[in-house]
This record gives sequence, structure tokens and C-alpha cells, in this order.
Amino acid sequence: MEFFDSHSHYNDESFDEDRNQIIQQTFDEDVTRVMCIGYNVEKSMKAIEIAEKHEFIYASCGISPNDIEDYSEENLFKIEEMSKNKKIVAIGEIGLDYYWNKENKDKQKELFIKQIDIANKYNKPIIIHTREAVMDTINILKEHPVKNTGIFHCCPLNQELIKEGLKLGYYISFTGVITFKNAKPEEAVKLVPLDRILIETDSPYMSPEPLRGKRNSSINVKIVAKKIAEIKGIPIEDVANATYNNANNVFRIKNKRT
Ligand code: NI
Repeated sequence: MEFFDSHSHYNDESFDEDRNQIIQQTFDEDVTRVMCIGYNVEKSMKAIEIAEKHEFIYASCGISPNDIEDYSEENLFKIEEMSKNKKIVAIGEIGLDYYWNKENKDKQKELFIKQIDIANKYNKPIIIHTREAVMDTINILKEHPVKNTGIFHCCPLNQELIKEGLKLGYYISFTGVITFKNAKPEEAVKLVPLDRILIETDSPYMSPEPLRGKRNSSINVKIVAKKIAEIKGIPIEDVANATYNNANNVFRIKNKRT
């Protein structure tokens, strides 16, 4: 059984001391594909550096709504240049976050749309970060369709968002949040068919129960898979295989390692 962690941040400082060790351990424990996700210019460059060093790691580049201070024409050009890199298989994480930032909604929308344009120009899917911005996110995706669709990362357990996202052709990715005691993820997880579901850790954040609050790593993506298997009443192998294939499909990565 092999697992694909579709969202991690090994470009985060919290891995500076033992990054290579954790990455090796991840692979040894059957998490044999991992996405390292950018969220500003510096961390996108770091994601590429990590992906170039480890064959089984792929990367994305983008400026997240919580890194809006990075938004400039010059930096968008840098993202565009990075998106030509062989290891860059998506633009992200990009989107809207009205939980942390209510004051600059228009600027967030503008940055989101400009990066959708980059994704379409280079035929990449997008990785969406959305928090307390359901309708605006969906409206932007309807008005600015992404050719290769993408992923709702750490998808909020909001049934309307999931239904709309599925209708638009997006994949829905779940983190350790679905293991939290107060989460009530059953209805949301059941809404997503097996051929559109992804698993992720969002490491170093979002550690699942019973590791909540600790630094997360890709190994724990198995806990997320197990929870989905429980909710759907299917073997964990089925979840592992489906999510592995789905991630390869959305990122257009060859299924067999060369
Ligand atoms: Ni993230």
C-alpha cells in the first residue's frame, strides 16, 4: 500500500533541523509521493529546491491570501517563471481567507484571479485555500474557469462548498481535521465520491488525533486515510489507491515511478 500526501510544507522553518531525515522516513513508511506547497515567493523557491533534491516530491508555487504583502507585479512574474520548472505541477496555494483578513477582500480576489491566469497560461491545476469565503471563492471559479481545475485543500466541512466544488470538477482534499473530536466530518466525507477525494497532512500543521498540537509529518496521512475508510465503510487499501491515483491525475504525474 502506497500513499500520496497531496499537501505539505517541508519548506517550513520547523523542518530546518531534520528535514532530510523526516523526508526519508516518510518514504520508508510508504508515503511514496508528496507535494510540497508554496505560499509566497521565498517558500515557493524553497519548495522547488526540496522537490529537485527528492525524486518523489513535487512542488507548487503561488502567493496565498495570507501572504498578500508579497503581492506585486514583480513577484507575480517570479511565480510565472517558477511555474515553468519541471517539478512544479500546480499553482498554489492561492485563494481567499476572510478569517485572517477581512480588510483587503478586493486585493485578495485580484491576486487569486491573476494566479488563475498563470495556471491557465501554463496548463496547471490550482490548489485552493479558502476560509470563510465560500461564495466569493465559488463565484471566482465560475467567472474565471481553470482549464485543469484543481483541489480544495484542507477543504472546509461545508456541504455547499463541496457540492459546488465537485460540480465545477474539483478534487476535495481532507486533512487531520476530520479526526478532531468536534469535527463531525461524516456527511461531508460521504458527499465526495472516491474518484474525487484526496488526502493530505498540511504538515507541519493540522496533526490528526491523537497527535493534535504536535508537529505534523506526511506519515500521518495514513490516519486521514483510515478515517475516510471508516466513514465510507471500505478498506483503507481502497482509499490509499484511489487517492494515490487521483493525485497523479490532477497533477498529471506519471503513475509509475521511473
Ligand atoms: Ni497549506
